[in-house]
Amino acid sequence: MDEIKILISEEEIDKRIRELGEEISNDYAGKKLHLISVLKGGVFFTCELAKRISVPVTLDFMSVSSYGNSTHSSGAVKIIKDLDESIMDKDVMVIEDIVDSGRTLSYLMKLLKEREPRSLALCTLLDKPMRRTHPVRVDYTGFDVPDEFIVGYGLDYAQKYRNLPFIGVIES
Ligand code: IMP
Ligand code: MG
Repeated sequence: MDEIKILISEEEIDKRIRELGEEISNDYAGKKLHLISVLKGGVFFTCELAKRISVPVTLDFMSVSSYGNSTHSSGAVKIIKDLDESIMDKDVMVIEDIVDSGRTLSYLMKLLKEREPRSLALCTLLDKPMRRTHPVRVDYTGFDVPDEFIVGYGLDYAQKYRNLPFIGVIES
């Protein structure tokens, strides 16, 4: 068993998600919001956030993976599962667990923009801004985190620990 140190408690996450939900509900007042959850890590955050948004919400899911060579300069990602529905003319918000280098999200946001949504925003639970190599505009952030390997609340280490109710760091 790995030893995991709590970085952000369940209570802190819950409080922050309520705040984000309120902020998003105000910003989208009078509109409908189409959430795109990025599998698998974004799912835990998406469910909790969606419950705190008071404007009408619809949901879709997308699964992407980076190509083997992580230094691939195009930053291209492979679509494992595409959206079920068109996003054309919708107010769309992508929900992610973490933005690290920004490689995945910068590519994904560009790709989604070409599908002509009415608006396109990005909301991430965690951000490691100091790690950015590919610029990406983040509209809503839960927490900035240090450059450490994070697990829990959707984030995995070799597919484990996604179900932890807090955000932690593996102690080595
Ligand atoms: P990117 O470098 O911004 O493209 O991040 C891509 C993906 O790397 C994220 O969506 C996560 O799945 C994963 N990732 C980045 N940092 C961490 C971490 O600290 N713990 C677990 N997964 C991470
Ligand atoms: Mg991810």
